[in-house]
Amino acid sequence: MLEPHVRRCCQPRDADLFQIRLERYFADFYLPLMQIYGEHPEFAHQFALLANQMVEAYAARPESLRLLDIERELTPDWFQRETMTGYICYTDLFAGTLAGVRERIDYLHELGITYLHLMPLLKSRPAPNDGGYAVADYRTVDPALGTMGELATLAQKMHAHGMSLCIDLVLNHTACEHTWAQQAMAGDPTYLAYYHMFDDRTLPDAYETTMREVFPTFSPGNFTWYPDIAGTGKWVWTTFHHFQWDLNYSNPAVFREMVDIMFYLANHGVDILRLDAVPFMWKRMGTSCENQPEVHLLVQAFRGIMRVIAPAVIFKAEAIVPPDKLIPYLGTDRAAGKECELAYNNQLMVLLWSTLATRKVQLLTHVLHSMPAPPAGTTWITYVRCHDDIGWAITDEHAAAVGENAFLHRQFLNNFYSGAYPGTFARGDLFQYNPATRDARISGTTAALAGLEQALATDDQTALDLAVRRILLLHSIILAYGGIPLIYMGDELGLLNDFSFCSDPLKVNDNRWMHRPPMNWQQAEQRHHPASIVGRIYSGLQRMIALRAATPAFHSASKTQPMWADNPHVFAFYRHHPCGRVLLLANFHEYEQTVAADIMWHSGLRGEIRNLLNPHGFRPTADYYRIHLGPYESMWLVGSQSG
Ligand code: GLC
Repeated sequence: MLEPHVRRCCQPRDADLFQIRLERYFADFYLPLMQIYGEHPEFAHQFALLANQMVEAYAARPESLRLLDIERELTPDWFQRETMTGYICYTDLFAGTLAGVRERIDYLHELGITYLHLMPLLKSRPAPNDGGYAVADYRTVDPALGTMGELATLAQKMHAHGMSLCIDLVLNHTACEHTWAQQAMAGDPTYLAYYHMFDDRTLPDAYETTMREVFPTFSPGNFTWYPDIAGTGKWVWTTFHHFQWDLNYSNPAVFREMVDIMFYLANHGVDILRLDAVPFMWKRMGTSCENQPEVHLLVQAFRGIMRVIAPAVIFKAEAIVPPDKLIPYLGTDRAAGKECELAYNNQLMVLLWSTLATRKVQLLTHVLHSMPAPPAGTTWITYVRCHDDIGWAITDEHAAAVGENAFLHRQFLNNFYSGAYPGTFARGDLFQYNPATRDARISGTTAALAGLEQALATDDQTALDLAVRRILLLHSIILAYGGIPLIYMGDELGLLNDFSFCSDPLKVNDNRWMHRPPMNWQQAEQRHHPASIVGRIYSGLQRMIALRAATPAFHSASKTQPMWADNPHVFAFYRHHPCGRVLLLANFHEYEQTVAADIMWHSGLRGEIRNLLNPHGFRPTADYYRIHLGPYESMWLVGSQSG
């Protein structure tokens, strides 16, 4: 039914490609849609509208992006390559505007960045807007940052530099100022059905018996009473803030609208869509209302459709959930290869900080050992810090397996990173302390949590040196682990906490702003002074990124195998690639540690061994049987023969 339409709108060769892709992916999106909406009275109508939108979006796709589609179909591992290193920032905090970001591409290029995630940049409600995650218009860039045209120009420039652009797609909710919400507010039944609305507390109360609260301090509960909706007032589902209204995906019109937004963003040159808060998209009574099977069907349907219209575009799941719930976002069993290509490895991030505090690698090694590898054709996003807090996602089972109590361990980590624990090096703060559960999360920049802030305040040279080493240690692991490593803006310069949010009444309640400092371009100028703190961090990172890009074993398709080194302070894993192996050793202690040299043999290294990170300083033979690692030293060991 689509063929005549697409032939009317497109050149013959493009119409042929459309048909080939449609035949290849039709079942991938149609079957999940039938499972979700097959019984819905509106489905046939919405599907017909969707089909038209697909053809229109395909016809509107710019020629340069059509070529990119073909290029990426020919190189499906483009995002898995060892040359991929990411950077994440807020447009305004990094460079003021999108035009400003364009001017800073060279800075990113110099660091070795090939992937840029610009945080929410679509028009949001006026502050407070959850850092832009309350979108009022998905088709307009925030006017303070620029225009859609500038976004497209930026994407073009990035593509010319071999870089890809990631932006957030806030799928789960819109701002209450979004036109759909406004029309619902006015009582339009079409738009009332775009959201979850309730006349009284009966159903909200029933749902809440099994749901958690995402922001228990500043936004308790999951529903908000709006007295003006449709003249009578309604309870609106608001998982996050009261101004973020959860969309109702059981309505096929909502699905269709969101697909159309994806087309629009893709046709402006966006390469990666970060599916924000994706686990929350489907609600079911008696459950946590997270990770429901329908969420996966929705993602599969999005995926299949986008592979027809804009195959250059991939998805990144923002699913901060336990490992058994996480892997399905990368597509498992019958959905293999049919969901997201990327997902955040939150466990790795949390456990790196946990290990830095305890200096003991058992929990880290155990959890990573038991975690399934990402399915073929997908990979992790690895990261040290991001714009959100650190939630101590450590399960009872995992903690018990290494003789720890999860609750007490989380308490310890909160004490340690909020600076309360005697002797701690960290300067962070508690986020969302919940007196009922005594749970909390942590805010703070990498540098502040790793000891730099405290060391600078006390002008302690030894502490300064150790803090720099910790920062490089953590990055050496996310760069080596497999996946796209993502550097959080300013971490390459050691930016400290920023308390200016305390004097902004619209931010003061949300201390995540302390780790969202503006870029310090003056500080960036010191990056070429190797003796300065900034220079040490920057050049250390830059070197590691370059070495990584030149080492095929860091291609994401190769597997990561955690190992037990015979030292509780040294974390180890190896990666196996047909072109060679690499063994990572990372000392989480401020004193020198040694491990038995036969770990190199066990990891399959053969021939003459070199440490890529310090080619002249590797002497396992100084005492033949042990490898010596300095304070917080990391090694990337490779052998001259492939194992
Ligand atoms: C994601 C974002 C977070 C935001 C939430 C709601 O988790 O990372 O910053 O608060 O979604 O959109």
